[in-house]
Amino acid sequence: MWAQLPKAELHVHLEGTLEPAMLLELAERNRVPVPWNSIEDLEGAYHFEGLPHFLTLLFQGARVLRQRRDFYDLTHAYLRRAHQDGVRLVEMFVGPQTFLDADIPLDAQLGGVFDAIEDARSGFGIDAKVLLTAQRHRTEAAALELLDMARPWYDRLLGFGLGGAERGNPPAEFANYYAQCRRLGLRTTIHAGEDGPSDYVREALDVCHPDRIDHGVAAADDPELIKRLVDERIPLTMCPLSNLRLGVTPDLRQHPLRRLQQAGVLVTVNSDDPPYFGGYLNDNYRAIATALDLTDHDVATLVGNGFAASFAERGVVDAALADIADGTRGHARGTS
Ligand code: ADE
Ligand code: ZN
Repeated sequence: MWAQLPKAELHVHLEGTLEPAMLLELAERNRVPVPWNSIEDLEGAYHFEGLPHFLTLLFQGARVLRQRRDFYDLTHAYLRRAHQDGVRLVEMFVGPQTFLDADIPLDAQLGGVFDAIEDARSGFGIDAKVLLTAQRHRTEAAALELLDMARPWYDRLLGFGLGGAERGNPPAEFANYYAQCRRLGLRTTIHAGEDGPSDYVREALDVCHPDRIDHGVAAADDPELIKRLVDERIPLTMCPLSNLRLGVTPDLRQHPLRRLQQAGVLVTVNSDDPPYFGGYLNDNYRAIATALDLTDHDVATLVGNGFAASFAERGVVDAALADIADGTRGHARGTS
């Protein structure tokens, strides 16, 4: 009943939406050697020992993206796939540093991304926005350099985030990066409490003052921190299948999403890196609903949270919430 409700996706990495078939096609198009010969080879490689191991494969796969049109094709394919799941609003992460290393200019990367966003908007009505992410296993100086390099794009960007290998790279190391984003009036999010401890979530709040926390799973072990997330109205963009496939949670039945929601935290469901973790947005809703025995009403509430936690204007959020309520009522009357 909820599958076609309008949805928001707030935590998806563009480079993590690369399907095995497109990876192999781009490898051939751009003559980039890869150690995989078939889709089966790639799917066989997608068994991760944890976040660092996954990131190694993600960055290796991303090497096949070389030209502006590759970024266009990847973005367009993801938006088309998201649209099938009822996704109406996307706030997606793009991580330029991997591609800058390969001498692909930022303008080629973002030019392709924004052309595809425009075509997807006019083609099937999806609204997509972009946050750039820096990688925390690099230095803060590198994050600041990215921020500076992106200056010509500020008016088209929603904001900035931080991803990459979490453990050993605490939020406080990026205090100046976040302060500078705020000075520029840009929105911010930070991956915290995925692979790292609840201390990193607290430190992120204290030092970086983000608008949202990406993942935040570890916060569930800390009642004081949960209270802060509620009081300070900081949403969590959670990604159930990612957490399962990276061993953040051993079993989705133990995932803290519902517990956090019941405590009053604004939790949302997202897909992170869909082909790598075995599912797009509806697959994530389905997996967490089954594991936690959520009712259709519970899922519709989570779907609404996606809009409430988004950076969209109030009117957009209210219209989506009204459509979700209509869709839910229509179903209850058996009319949809
Ligand atoms: N980049 C892409 N996916 C990520 C994740 N799950 N955690 C941190 N950085 C990422
Ligand atoms: Zn992520």
